[in-house]
Amino acid sequence: MAQRWIATDFGDLDVLRLEEYEPPAPGPGEVTIAVRAAGVNPADYKHIRSSRAPGSEELPIPIGYEVAGVVTAIGGPDAGGQPTRIGSGDVAVGDEVLAFRVTGGYATDLTVPARDVFAKPAAISFPEAANLLLAGSTAAEMLHVTRVREGDTILVHAASGAVGVSVLQQARLLGARAIGTASRGSFDVVERFGGTPVEYGDGLAGRVRELAPDGVAAALDGIGTDEAIEVSLELVADRSRIVTIVAGQRAKEDGFVIIGGAMPASKAYRDEVRAELVRLAGAGELVVPMARTYPLAEAVEALELVRTGHPGGKVALIP
Ligand SMILES: NC(=O)c1ccc[n+]([C@@H]2O[C@H](COP(=O)([O-])OP(=O)(O)OC[C@H]3O[C@@H](n4cnc5c(N)ncnc54)[C@H](OP(=O)(O)O)[C@@H]3O)[C@@H](O)[C@H]2O)c1
Repeated sequence: MAQRWIATDFGDLDVLRLEEYEPPAPGPGEVTIAVRAAGVNPADYKHIRSSRAPGSEELPIPIGYEVAGVVTAIGGPDAGGQPTRIGSGDVAVGDEVLAFRVTGGYATDLTVPARDVFAKPAAISFPEAANLLLAGSTAAEMLHVTRVREGDTILVHAASGAVGVSVLQQARLLGARAIGTASRGSFDVVERFGGTPVEYGDGLAGRVRELAPDGVAAALDGIGTDEAIEVSLELVADRSRIVTIVAGQRAKEDGFVIIGGAMPASKAYRDEVRAELVRLAGAGELVVPMARTYPLAEAVEALELVRTGHPGGKVALIP
């Protein structure tokens, strides 16, 4: 019997349960995946927080937005006789794939729309593949909405985090220079991915000015603290070139940009960049640094680590 994690209610991690379930057989345009790794993201616990309006979503809620695994079944042809194809093309049982954005990735087996499935590059592991696209597509959109281009110097808040390291790598590919905030212990991570580290905390704006005497073109925020927002507003005059993925309320009040995977424009952009991010990962140009893996049964422990805000890399669940 297959297993999956669900939230039985809105609330803290104690609403999570591991249950037995039967994944549906794939219909036309769907595939079933035996999950080898499920990516763990902060969104997985934020999604079920009690602050979300009860009734805004049907309970129970399956947890997890991204997986990597092996195709075990493929839906038949559609009404027009077209065979089921995945986002990257043809597919066969036994193929190694990754999938994003899915519902209920914390599972042993999962049936998903085939358009959200991509061939896994052989060069990356299942845990890396299962953590590539949520952070990677968020980072891509942050760079896109702030119009970052070759020669720009940008400020990246929480640069050592999952989204942060993807921003650093993608900024480098664009030819931009990134100054990235991190704790001292994470400076090596920022440097490894091509950024110039700067310690967050009192005096941040001054330290960034010293590193960027000609100014900062854009600020990309992955933490949402008042400090990150104030420093961004102080250093970047054009508010259309400040983006946050956390501080939605501040963005509304202060007139800068907020993006989120549930927003239609964000979803469309992120869907569009998935194939290119998979290609970059396969070419070794986009690396997913892992912190550790946990057995599927230890999803709560995995989320507790991510919730510390300092996981030290990505986390995956292994069925
Ligand atoms: N809106 C969206 O579409 C979207 C998408 C993805 C993620 N997110 C959100 O973005 C945030 C980051 O996600 P993630 O997956 O990158 O998280 P993560 O991998 O857990 O990274 C968190 C990072 O925050 C840094 N940090 C902690 N305290 C900080 C502070 N006071 N100032 C600056 N940096 C600090 C940590 O750096 P040190 O360890 O060096 O201190 C760590 O590297 C989460 O809140 C997540 O929910 C939003």
